[in-house]
Amino acid sequence: MISADCVVAACRQLLTCGGGVPKRREALRELGVIENGWVASNGGTIVFVGTEQEFRSNVDIAAGAEWIDAGGMVALPGFVDAHTHLPFAGNREREFRLRLQGWSYQQLAAEGMGIQTTVKATRAASRDELQALCLRRLDEMLLTGTTTVEAKSGYGLNLEDEIKQLEVLRDLGRLHPVAIVPTFMGAHEVPPEFNDRREEYISLLIQTLIPEVRRRNLAEFFDIFCEPGVFSLEETAALVRAAREAGFKIKIHADEFATLGGAELAANLGAVSAEHLISVSDLGIEKLAAAATAAVCLPGVSFFLMLEKRAPARRLIDAGAAVALATDFNPGSSYLSSMLFVLQLGVYTLRLGVEEAINACTANGAYAIDRHREVGTLEPGKKMDLLLLDASDYTSLAYRLGANPVRLVIKGGKVVVKDGRKVEAAP
Ligand code: NIG
Ligand code: FE
Repeated sequence: MISADCVVAACRQLLTCGGGVPKRREALRELGVIENGWVASNGGTIVFVGTEQEFRSNVDIAAGAEWIDAGGMVALPGFVDAHTHLPFAGNREREFRLRLQGWSYQQLAAEGMGIQTTVKATRAASRDELQALCLRRLDEMLLTGTTTVEAKSGYGLNLEDEIKQLEVLRDLGRLHPVAIVPTFMGAHEVPPEFNDRREEYISLLIQTLIPEVRRRNLAEFFDIFCEPGVFSLEETAALVRAAREAGFKIKIHADEFATLGGAELAANLGAVSAEHLISVSDLGIEKLAAAATAAVCLPGVSFFLMLEKRAPARRLIDAGAAVALATDFNPGSSYLSSMLFVLQLGVYTLRLGVEEAINACTANGAYAIDRHREVGTLEPGKKMDLLLLDASDYTSLAYRLGANPVRLVIKGGKVVVKDGRKVEAAP
């Protein structure tokens, strides 16, 4: 018999999202639904997934086990948000109002606003302030079903403040149930003090920041904004090589606004993911389809910036790319924390099927941050990260707008949201 210390019984539908990751083409439509599904874990790891009958003949329930009667709710893996700029201070409300008057994101950046506004605020913030802001944001994310989140630095743009952001991320891991995957993004922008000597900032990144962040083991990924006016293809290639040699895995903000060839570069350099892709070329789509590199679409950006142009997620999927969806949570281009809303934008604005959008927010999200061996699906051996939805069918995730159907969240075998409210850990 298998021993279990946490059981979720009688799910109307249990979406395992299992069966091999990454999911490409038709596989992206497979949710592995078990009607009247049961799932059990031990020590936070899933040990059983199946029907009631299989459960009764295979699983031994440990004394004092957590027993949750799903009462006919729908169960699925916790959402994996593969792209956020979580640790920032301040806001860009004033710039948002300027955008409503016709300014573009690029015009704001050219006038020294945009990312620079947030760099100023983040440099000025103390660790405690930054931590408190992040904790509140993580609560918001957890309540809408996010259980794992990738988080980037990149609003410090000097050694001290990048490390401040990354140390805040490290400490959050001990303070909050949402798991954090840290990314060093010192190459988010050239800081204003290096405006007319950008090569010096690139040297500083290569010679000091990249090795120092690595030495302190503060980030697993290196990410860079490859965009005209920010970092060119050549600069991106040089920085990525240095980061890879230092031991980082690679992500690239690629072809967000202009078609530069960032997607091709990401595929050629073996990046774990290429992100944004609003302006990806035909060749870029082809390259990503043939590569292990995940294609992360961030539909919040086109929506938030009110752009007609959107990432060609449909074409990426049909070509065979491993498409994931994420929030890009940040104060300038996508102030959006909810993966539930991202899933809906995936369906309504990128024309994904409901099943595709669910897999893109779970299994493929995990793949895009190299966590697919641990999270993103409900299968034996994976972490017990599970959501229960007050819904009669998973379609409701996309069909029902503006409501939050997430009633219960389990993270690593522990109930962290109950009746739609966060469960505070005992003091
Ligand atoms: O992913 N593109 C670069 N970085 C963010 C925006 C950051 C900001 O505006 O503060 C993005 O869109
Ligand atoms: Fe981003």
